[in-house]
Formats: sequence, structure tokens, C-alpha cells
Amino acid sequence: MIEISRLCKTFGSNIVLNNLNLTIPEGETKVVIGRSGTGKSVLLKNIIGILKPDSGSVKIGGVEVTSLSEREYNKIRMKMGMVFQGGALFDSMNVAENVAFVLNEFMSLDEKTVRERVAKYLAMVGLQKIEHMMPSQLSGGMKKRVSLARVLCMEPEIIFYDEPTTGVDPITADAINNLIVELSHKLKVTSIVVTHDMSSAYKVADSIAMLYHGQVIAEGTPDAIRHTTHPVVKQFIHGEAQGPITEDENLIFGHIK
Ligand SMILES: Nc1ncnc2c1ncn2[C@@H]1O[C@H](COP(=O)(O)OP(=O)(O)O)[C@@H](O)[C@H]1O
Ligand SMILES: [Mg+2]
Repeated sequence: MIEISRLCKTFGSNIVLNNLNLTIPEGETKVVIGRSGTGKSVLLKNIIGILKPDSGSVKIGGVEVTSLSEREYNKIRMKMGMVFQGGALFDSMNVAENVAFVLNEFMSLDEKTVRERVAKYLAMVGLQKIEHMMPSQLSGGMKKRVSLARVLCMEPEIIFYDEPTTGVDPITADAINNLIVELSHKLKVTSIVVTHDMSSAYKVADSIAMLYHGQVIAEGTPDAIRHTTHPVVKQFIHGEAQGPITEDENLIFGHIK
């Protein structure tokens, strides 16, 4: 479904993606792990075309997207949904307006269809009868669910999740993990989840890829990653201060090289 090869992205002297290769088969949930600042969000943004790579190839459903015009890219984007880190709800709109926003913007559906879709996908994420509530009245977990419903409303084939469990309590995080797994099975979507939360990674992944120094340095099933002997991956998944990764290396990598 998604094939990334030799992808490079640099900001000034900061080399973020350095000949990165990654393939995500249709219907699979791929989890990309890595420290904060390693380039996980940049990777997602390069796939959905918010950022343009310096070089390399991104193929979505067999189509090379890096060279598409904005208009052609938008057609491909209709198949993709991104759940942003903070939820990114509009504070001045109620839940229904937030969920329907993209639908109204990009699809010419009648009011009743929109209303039904909004209710359907709010129910699917475990929220009912909250259409008239404002974002300020919702908990962090509910906001995440609403932003997920907004993405599902577009009935995408691919869903990107940027740190879906960051900043929510462990119980909410577990509920979100369950939801990701459930949606993947129910809707048969291809999913990419970027996170530094290992319990979430183990729970939702078919396969886990670790991003380090601009590349995927290890990839495997949750079980294979859990039992890896790779020193960098081992240090990361066990959250140890001692090891090949140093605390301040994000500052060093790319800038002095
Ligand atoms: N638009 C941008 N302009 C310049 N630098 C950026 C931009 N977006 C991200 N970066 C840099 O790229 C690196 C990776 O960032 P990011 O992908 O957000 O990390 P994370 O893995 O935490 O998601 C960071 O050093 C960040 O400062
Ligand atoms: Mg990020």
C-alpha cells in the first residue's frame, strides 16, 4: 500500500530523514517508534505531502506521489486520514461541526447524510449524543476520539496516527489502543502509528519499525522487537539512560557531522 524508498529530508543542517526505507502492506498496522525529535512526524508529513522530501520515493497504492501536483495529490489525500498529535479540534465549533468539517469542505453530501455519518462514526469511537458539546467541555481522551471520528467520517483507506496516546492517562491510552486495533479489523484500513509509547506499540502493531538517525534500523513483529539484541533498540524499548543513545544526541546528530 505504501512504499518508501531512500527518502531524504533535511532542514538547514539538520538531517532528519537519511535514505529511509519502509514498506507498509495493505491492511497492516505499522508502528514507527523512536525518540522525540527523531523525525516521526516529519516522516508522516512527507507521506501525506504536507512536507516535500528532498529526494527519494513515496508510492501510495502504486502511485509515485512525490512528483504530483497539489491537485493530483489531493485526490490521493482523500484516501488518507491523519489523527494529529493534539487532536486539532476547532474550539469555536461544537463536536458535530468539528467532525463534519472536512466532510463539508471536500464532499458535497446533503445535510441528512452528513448528520448520519457524524453520528455513525461518533458511535464507532464510543461517543454518543455529544454532538452539541464544545471541545472545552471534553476530556483529553474524548477530544482524541472526536478527532478520530472526524478522520473516520471521510472513510479513508489509510489512517495515520501521530502519538495517539501521548498526554492521556494510562486507562484512556489503553482505550485508544483498543480502538485502533478494533478499527483496523472492522474497517480493514492500513494504519501507521508513530509513538514513543512502547506499551501502545506492542498492543496495536502488526509490525514495529524503529527510526534512528534518519533510518529504520530495525523492524519486526512486536515479539521480535521485544526480544531484540540490537543495542540501540534494546536501550530504547527498555528506556535506559545508559547505552549507545546519549541523552543530548538529538542536538548533536545532523548538526555536527
Ligand atoms: N517545519 C520544520 N522546519 C524545520 N525543522 C523542522 C520542521 N519540522 C520538524 N523539524 C525538525 O525535524 C526534527 C524531527 O522532528 P519531528 O519529526 O517533529 O520529531 P518527532 O519524532 O518527535 O515527531 C526535529 O529536529 C525538528 O526540530
Ligand atoms: Mg512528533
